[in-house]
Amino acid sequence: MDGTVLVTGGTRGIGRALTERLIGAGARVAVVGRDRERLAELAAEHGERVTAWPVDLADPAAVDGFLNEVTERHPDLSVVINNAAVQTQTDFLGADPVAMRPVLRREIAINLDALVAISTGLLPHLRERPAAAIVNLTTGLALAPKRAAPVYCATKAGVRSFTRALRYQCERDAPHIRVAEAIMPVVDTDMTRGRGTGKISADVAAAAVLAGLERGRAEIYVGKARLLPAIMRIAPAAGHRLLRDG
Ligand SMILES: NC(=O)c1ccc[n+]([C@@H]2O[C@H](COP(=O)([O-])OP(=O)(O)OC[C@H]3O[C@@H](n4cnc5c(N)ncnc54)[C@H](OP(=O)(O)O)[C@@H]3O)[C@@H](O)[C@H]2O)c1
Repeated sequence: MDGTVLVTGGTRGIGRALTERLIGAGARVAVVGRDRERLAELAAEHGERVTAWPVDLADPAAVDGFLNEVTERHPDLSVVINNAAVQTQTDFLGADPVAMRPVLRREIAINLDALVAISTGLLPHLRERPAAAIVNLTTGLALAPKRAAPVYCATKAGVRSFTRALRYQCERDAPHIRVAEAIMPVVDTDMTRGRGTGKISADVAAAAVLAGLERGRAEIYVGKARLLPAIMRIAPAAGHRLLRDG
């Protein structure tokens, strides 16, 4: 892959696997995360191939500062992978709404607000590149939510909708910028520790995302998530029931 790829949440899980695979394929990777130790480890291990960006994506000022710097440091930045996200298990009727509010606001800021800021903030730069791509990670839960994580599901449905509309704009005005959504199944990472069955590894998930990107897919359905569009078309109520208790 030519040029620099930005991976948010590249310190762990799927983002880490994407980072390792991209480096293996010869790319340079700008990695965003909060964990300075892991960021330093990555930079030490991969030398010039990695630049480490300690940014708390819940902090809009930190996101703005990052956006001001990253293209100066990487004029060849061509691919943006918005991978970072958090998932809060929330029982609205059993929890204290006042205590819950900052946690949920933070979840929205990381999963949706920062992703919109990064995607739109880098568009003027990507527009000047000969070829570019934005890939946003979502989940089958963007199509049908689960009971246990309402705000996570809402942010991912928001990302799905935003990604499609941004794709329409780029198809019309900047067709050399591809805008893709990668719809993930359950993957074995910290996010799903202690729950979920039939998980695939972060490396298998990352390989599928990059293969989809390589093939120019607008929607990259990974693993079992491939079944969802047909299920939701043929039997939407069954699809909702299937994911509700996940
Ligand atoms: N795992 C699954 O089953 C699954 C299923 C469907 C979709 N997905 C999606 O796949 C993506 C990756 O998930 P994952 O399972 O790999 O998650 P993960 O293992 O929990 O890793 C999350 C990554 O996001 C970063 N991150 C979290 N909060 C951040 C913040 N405030 N600022 C900067 N970085 C932050 C973390 O970095 P630091 O620790 O350094 O902050 C970490 O690198 C997410 O978009 C998720 O919604 C995952």
